[in-house]
Amino acid sequence: MSDKVTLDYNGKKFEFPVIEGTEKEVAIDIKTLRSTTGLTTLDPGYKNTGSCESAITFLDGEKGILRYRGYAIEELAEKADFLEVAYLLIFGELPNKEQLAKFHRDIREESHIDEEMKKILDGFPKSAHPMGVISSLTSALIAFNPSTVDVSSEKDMYHAIVRIMAKFPVLVAWTLRKKKGLPLDYGDDTLGYVENIHKMMFKKPNQTYKKNSVVIEALDKLLILHADHEQNCSTSTVRIVGSSHAGLFASLSAGISALWGPLHGGANQAVLEMLEAIEADGGDTKKYMAKAKDKEDPFRLMGFGHRVYKNFDPRAKIIKKAADEVLSDLGVEDAILDIAKGLEKEALEDEYFVKRKLYPNVDFYSGIIYRALGIPTEMFTVMFALGRLPGWIAQWREMRLRGEPIGRPRQVYIGENLRPFVNVDLR
Ligand code: SDX
Repeated sequence: MSDKVTLDYNGKKFEFPVIEGTEKEVAIDIKTLRSTTGLTTLDPGYKNTGSCESAITFLDGEKGILRYRGYAIEELAEKADFLEVAYLLIFGELPNKEQLAKFHRDIREESHIDEEMKKILDGFPKSAHPMGVISSLTSALIAFNPSTVDVSSEKDMYHAIVRIMAKFPVLVAWTLRKKKGLPLDYGDDTLGYVENIHKMMFKKPNQTYKKNSVVIEALDKLLILHADHEQNCSTSTVRIVGSSHAGLFASLSAGISALWGPLHGGANQAVLEMLEAIEADGGDTKKYMAKAKDKEDPFRLMGFGHRVYKNFDPRAKIIKKAADEVLSDLGVEDAILDIAKGLEKEALEDEYFVKRKLYPNVDFYSGIIYRALGIPTEMFTVMFALGRLPGWIAQWREMRLRGEPIGRPRQVYIGENLRPFVNVDLR
């Protein structure tokens, strides 16, 4: 493999180094492109552009590979728990027993929320979309945790990290309970991290909470599968906001807003709504396949396609298997799952989808499990954010510790050339 490329422009030759990552990915290092050639690049959606070097997550879209800090997602989903994976993503190594216990202890210490925050939550109408609520509450947390903003030492970063790992799940639970008109609940910090999240979300005020291991294990696995995904839209948002040193909570709030979009994390809600529409249409999957292929129709087959995966999303495979297991363990008959499987089969045999390498992604089956776990459709993307939280934190921490520069892309201007001002009475 050559270690440089040559650009032949205006009769001059310019050389740029080619760098190779630890998984043999190669990239042209164009840090000096503009200063040496006067040229910049144009790459809408950054389909061909690397924004950073990162040691957190590796994925191979052609081979359908996903690894967190070198560990295969299949192994982590099977053998680890979510808090362990969060520690791995953020700090780079799987924790030993003491490290994990301390991390959980430090988180439990910070799991209270200033009572004043409830007034902000009260200000939202029940009809408010939970993603808008949780993004606002995450930003509002800054006012009650000012010490988390200006963090440059690892110690201060750790302080901010355990605070948000502690408080975000409480806010997620409160957002759900507010919508349901239930009293806000802190759960029980003698429970495991994910079990306590489930209790905070679902404990009924007049009943004792009964743990269902199938539900907790399924939720833990779903959170692991969503934990990180290299430089996706919302993670890139967290990084670019964080690069201005706006602080961790502000960066996360921006990332939550980016995740909300139906082309990104909002797809899991859109998939369920699409499947429900197909069910209401008598299961007419062919009509929706035709809509997805009709260029005049903005409709897309939600849960299909991916910017990077041009093969099966490895997470979709794991979730599809888990959906079968969870629904049978819970004795849930869900016609939606059969519709999803039928749609998947049709799409995988359809020339339009095959040609464009459109496979089911992480969002295609996740909503079916969330629904079986009793999570309302509008909360699906909030659950995605709950899973993605440690990944966003890990990427923000790496960006800050590496001292990455403020993110500021260039552009190609295509507007008016210089023209003189015209007074309003002459226009
Ligand atoms: C996530 O990046 C990540 O890692 C994201 C994520 C993560 O973990 O963070 O994996 C989570 O966001 C998963 C994706 C969830 N979104 C959806 O399921 C929404 C439906 N999918 C798409 O809108 C689309 O596939 C994207 C947005 C996911 C990717 O779009 P790209 O890479 O910009 O691809 P494209 O829009 O250029 O599409 C290429 C072609 C186009 O057709 P042509 O112009 O070539 O004729 O494929 C078509 C598109 O019209 N196409 C689809 C389609 N997705 C792409 N046609 C119908 N249905 C679809 N779902």
